Amino acid sequence: MAFTIAIDGPAAAGKGTVSKAVAAHFGFAHLDTGLLYRATGRRTLDGTAPVEAARALRASDLEAGDLRTPDVAQAASRVAAIPEVRQALVDFQRAFARRDGGAVLDGRDIGTVICPEAEVKLFVTASDAVRAERRFRELRDNGFDTTFEAVLADLQTRDTRDSARAAAPLKPAEDAVRIDTSQMSIDQAVASAIAEVDARL
Ligand code: C5P
Repeated sequence: MAFTIAIDGPAAAGKGTVSKAVAAHFGFAHLDTGLLYRATGRRTLDGTAPVEAARALRASDLEAGDLRTPDVAQAASRVAAIPEVRQALVDFQRAFARRDGGAVLDGRDIGTVICPEAEVKLFVTASDAVRAERRFRELRDNGFDTTFEAVLADLQTRDTRDSARAAAPLKPAEDAVRIDTSQMSIDQAVASAIAEVDARL
């Protein structure tokens, strides 16, 4: 049986952590759709044209080790504004969403465009300062030499571009449940997401 959980929200709001934990809790498959745009963006840094890069994407590209860098994040956000790039990635995401056994997809447009019929839609947010602090620590722990201010500016540039674009902008679906994780621990955010899913299973 297919059962789709759509989890959207801005960068570093906790979507990834919540999605992984929800998928593990229910035994569902998980797709971080940001990786599709990151892998596409990464290829463009080598000079490949964006649409060509998206069409040539293979599942194994999502496992590349260097997709989490700030440069790749910005490249991802740039290619993600191109309608033909988004179109090239739709079928893969929809097939994943309807696979047997249940699926969690996290991204920006899952509840609005990719899976408008998802059984559960969550919109995970947090304040800019909290998101930048979390991403700053994560990058620093992974050996990146950066500052809180640089990370905050980077997130805000991406969020503005992601929200302002015409093609599938970042916004909550009308029927999405909002979870603001600013004042929550990871365990609290995960528990509240699981409670929302339980209420609809
Ligand atoms: O989620 P993550 O930060 O890895 O996403 C990187 C970029 O990919 C985002 O800034 C956004 O521009 C794009 N993206 C998107 N739609 C999705 C997932 C990610 O446009 N469903």
